[in-house]
Amino acid sequence: MTENASPETPPAARLHLGAAYYPEHWPEERWPEDIRLMQEAGFTVARMGEFAWSTFEPAEGEFHFDWLDRAIALLAEAGIVSVLGTPTAAPPAWLTHAYPDTLAVDEHGRRAQHGNRCHYCVNSTEYHAATHRIVGALAEHFGPNPHVIGWQIDNEFNRTCYCDHCRARFQAYLAERFGTLEALNEHWTTAYWSQTYSAWEQVPIPIGYHNPGLMLAFRQFVTESYCQFQRLQIDILRPHLQPGVWITHNFMQWFDGFDHYKVAEDLDLASWDWYVGMGHVDHLTCGAAHDLVRGYKRRNFWLMETQPGRVNWKPVNTALDRGEMRTMAWHAVGHGADAVLYWQWRSALNGQEQYHGVLIDQSGQPLPIYEEVQQIGYDFENAAPILAGSKPAPAEIAILNDYDSRWAIKGQRHHEDFDYVEHLLHYYRPIALRNKPVDIIPTDAPFDQYRLIIAPALHIIDEELAERLKEFVANTRRLVITLRSGVKDEYNAMLPTRPPGPLAKIAGIEVEDYYALQDEIPVKGRRVSGTARIWAERLKPLNNITTSIASYGPYNGWLDDQSVATVNMHRQGVIYYVGAYLDDRAQQSLMDMVTGQLRIEPVMQTPLGVEACKRVNAEGEDIIILINHTAKEQSVTLPWPAHEHLLELSIEGTVRMAPYGVLVLTKRPEGPTDA
Ligand code: GAL
Repeated sequence: MTENASPETPPAARLHLGAAYYPEHWPEERWPEDIRLMQEAGFTVARMGEFAWSTFEPAEGEFHFDWLDRAIALLAEAGIVSVLGTPTAAPPAWLTHAYPDTLAVDEHGRRAQHGNRCHYCVNSTEYHAATHRIVGALAEHFGPNPHVIGWQIDNEFNRTCYCDHCRARFQAYLAERFGTLEALNEHWTTAYWSQTYSAWEQVPIPIGYHNPGLMLAFRQFVTESYCQFQRLQIDILRPHLQPGVWITHNFMQWFDGFDHYKVAEDLDLASWDWYVGMGHVDHLTCGAAHDLVRGYKRRNFWLMETQPGRVNWKPVNTALDRGEMRTMAWHAVGHGADAVLYWQWRSALNGQEQYHGVLIDQSGQPLPIYEEVQQIGYDFENAAPILAGSKPAPAEIAILNDYDSRWAIKGQRHHEDFDYVEHLLHYYRPIALRNKPVDIIPTDAPFDQYRLIIAPALHIIDEELAERLKEFVANTRRLVITLRSGVKDEYNAMLPTRPPGPLAKIAGIEVEDYYALQDEIPVKGRRVSGTARIWAERLKPLNNITTSIASYGPYNGWLDDQSVATVNMHRQGVIYYVGAYLDDRAQQSLMDMVTGQLRIEPVMQTPLGVEACKRVNAEGEDIIILINHTAKEQSVTLPWPAHEHLLELSIEGTVRMAPYGVLVLTKRPEGPTDA
C-alpha cells in the first residue's frame, strides 16, 4: 500500500487496517511506541476522539485540541491517516451536571446517571446547543487537516428517551404528519378502548404494549429524532471538510431502535461494529449482517470496529481461535468492507472495559493476537493492487428488509418464537450457503438489477410498493412472497382485505387463516418435504393456474392437505407464496429450487464451511476470496487455473486449504498445470 495516499471517496481505492486509539488515556511519551507498533502491524488508519469530549472541552467553551493535533501528526509521519469521531456519545460531567435535562429518561421515568454512554436525550435543546459548540469547534479546527480522511458521528446510536420534552416533540411530529386529530383517530381506530384524542397533548409515548398505530409512529419519530440530531452535526461539519472527506456513523447491524436506511441517508459511507461475542463466527449469519450494512447505502462500507480476540460483555467471553480474526477480516472484505478496524488498540488501566480484547495489553506489550493482525496487514498490502477500487460482484438476488414491517410484527409476534430477522435469515442462509450473492435492501431501493426478489414477512405494504413489485415480476423475473405479508397499511392498521392484500392477485392466492404452531406439521411435496414450525397459513387459490408446491400432512383438521406454498404466473413473471416456516432442510430445497430454476450461478462450489465471495475491480477483473471458516483442513476444486495474491502463487485443480485459510484468486489465462 502506498504511504500518504490521498483521501478518497467511497468505494475506497485501498483496503484500510487500523484500530480505535485513545491517546488521551496515555502519557504522550508513549505515543511513538504505539505508533511504531501500529506501523509494524501494517496499519493505515487510526480512529480517535469519539469519547474524548471531557478532554476536548474540560469546561464549557474551553477547548483543548493541541494533543490530538500532535497525535494526528505523529500518525501521519508513520503513513497512518486518521478518522475522527464527534464525541457526543459521551458528554462531560460538567455538562450533564449543569443541564440535567440533557440526560435521557427511561420508560419508568428514571433519569440516566452520568458516566456511561449514549445516555443523552436525543431531542434536548441544551444537548443540541452543546453539540453545536463542540462539533463546530472540532470542525473548524480539524476540518482543514489533510490527514483526517473521515468523520464518524457519535457512536452507535441506541437510546430511546421518554422525557416530557420528547413527548411534546412526538406530539408535534404527529400533528405535522396527520394534520388533524380526526385523521389520527381514524387511522389508529382510537375508538377502541376509548383512546380517542381530543388534543395533541393527550397522546402518550407508548410504554409496553399499546395501540399498534401509536407504537409504529413512535419508532418512526425516534428515527426522525436521530436523523435530526445527526443532520445537526453533519451540517456543522460539512462546510469545513476537504473534498473527498467522508462522514459516517457506526451502526449496530440489526439493532431495531430506528430505521437504519433513513439514518444512513445523510451519510457518505455506512460503517458498522461487528462483535461475535461468545463462540465462533457463523459466516452465514455474519455475512447477512455485512450485506445488510452494504445495503444501507448500497455501496462498500467500513468495518469500524471488530473484536480483537474477545469481548467483555458476554456470559462467557471466549476467545476466537487462532486464525479466526484473519478469516473475519477477509469475510468482511468479501462482502464489501474497505476497512477493518479493531476495537480497541490497548486496554485502559481503568474504565468500564478493562477486560475487553485488545492488541496491546495494559503493560504496553503486544498480545499473541497482534501477530495475526500483522498477518492481515501483510495480506491487505499484498492484495491492495488487485482489490483497488473493487466492489462485490452485482447480486442477482435481493431480500427486502423493512423496519415498519419488523416493528409491526415485533409488537404482535403472535408466536413468541416468531422473529422478523430470524425469518429473513431463514431465506438468506440457504442462498449464502451456495455462495450465491445476495443484496439486502430497503423496499424503496431500485429493483432493476435483480432477477429474484424475496419479500420475507412484508407485513406493511402500500399501493406504490405493491405496484413496483408487480412491475418487477413481469418480464420473466421472480418474486417470493412469504407468510405474514400484505397484512397492514402504513399506519399499522389491518388492510380490509385478506393477505397478501394488494399482492394477492399476482400471488394467485389469499390467506384464509393463520395458525401459530406449538408442534411441527408434516409437509409433503415433490421437491420440498419435511416439516413446518412456528407459523402456518391456509392458502386459498384464486385462479386455476396457481400450483401447489407442497401440502400439509395431518395436523389440526384446518390445515390438513392444504397448500403450504404455491407458484403462480403473472405477465411472464413467476410468483411464489410461502405460507409456512419450513424446517431448514425443506427451506434449503425450496431455495435451491427457486434459484436453480432461474439458473443463478454460485461464485463457485465449495465444501461446507468454505465460503467463496467475489469482488470485481475497476478493470472488470473478478477476484474470488476463498475463506475456510473451519478449524480443519479443506479441499477445494478451483474453477480455473488461478493466481493466488497473498502468497503470489500459481495454483489450479484441487487445492488444500489450511484451517482458517484464505486464498485471494484471479483467473490465470495460462501457467503451470501442477497444483
Ligand atoms: C461497541 C462500542 C465500543 C466498545 C465495544 C466493546 O459497541 O462502540 O466503544 O465499547 O462495543 O465491545
